[in-house]
Amino acid sequence: MRFDSGPSACQTDRVSNVFFAPGEPRAAKVNTLFAAIARRYDLLNDLQSFGLHRRWKRRVAALAAAAPGVRALDLCCGTGDIAFALARRGAEATGLDFSPQMLEVAESRRLKNSKFKIQNSKFIQGDAQQLPFPDNSFDIVTVGYGLRNLASWERGLDEMFRVARPGARLIVLDFGKPPNALWRRIYFTHLKISVPLIGWLFCGNAQAYAYILESLKHYPAQLAVAEKMRALKLANVRVINLLGGAMAINYGEKPV
Ligand SMILES: C[S@@+](CC[C@H](N)C(=O)[O-])C[C@H]1O[C@@H](n2cnc3c(N)ncnc32)[C@H](O)[C@@H]1O
Repeated sequence: MRFDSGPSACQTDRVSNVFFAPGEPRAAKVNTLFAAIARRYDLLNDLQSFGLHRRWKRRVAALAAAAPGVRALDLCCGTGDIAFALARRGAEATGLDFSPQMLEVAESRRLKNSKFKIQNSKFIQGDAQQLPFPDNSFDIVTVGYGLRNLASWERGLDEMFRVARPGARLIVLDFGKPPNALWRRIYFTHLKISVPLIGWLFCGNAQAYAYILESLKHYPAQLAVAEKMRALKLANVRVINLLGGAMAINYGEKPV
């Protein structure tokens, strides 16, 4: 295994996690994983990131320039955080995910928070690699911690591009590969040891959380996503590294 941060770096054919399988069987394994952890997903996110994931998701909504009258789509929406952040800014937000268990949590959060602006959000079940929307449908298309889980992240990005209107903002938030070798080593050790330990203690499932490192090894992360965004001819492509690149936001705009 290599921990360098180049587009093709840190990818390996070796698989050592029950929830990871390359190619087409991937979706079924990922679905099983999220069905198992859906109820504890939000708690574990807070514990693992010390609550920082909330700030990063709000940053995604701000970068997206979510506002009243704007149509937003959040892929792999899970329990709804990014869709809610977009809706709180007034956008008409649709969250899409293939896991009924994750969507159930999202919907119950939406109903519980009926006082807040998140009523202009809705959730639908679907496959991020085959979106049930016509071309040029949305002003904003986001995905948080989702591309890394797809059998083909490139296909996911192609779909984001297809359903985005000219001028739309496309934003990807995910685990990244820090450019600094020492920091990368420390961070990958954290993902290898502490994160599965937290998963085991609070969710009874170490493998589900060991999956994060496994999936990251097979995902080329922020640099390759930026490269693909440029290949799609997106404008204003940029990478925002968070925590020294341990997390990253990729941003681009569909040309008008
Ligand atoms: C790590 S969670 C991210 C949830 C949420 N976006 C967040 O940031 O908290 C990944 C989500 O991607 C969903 N997912 C994975 N593959 C998918 C696919 N092919 N189509 C739709 N959703 C998918 C999973 O069900 C899961 O809810």
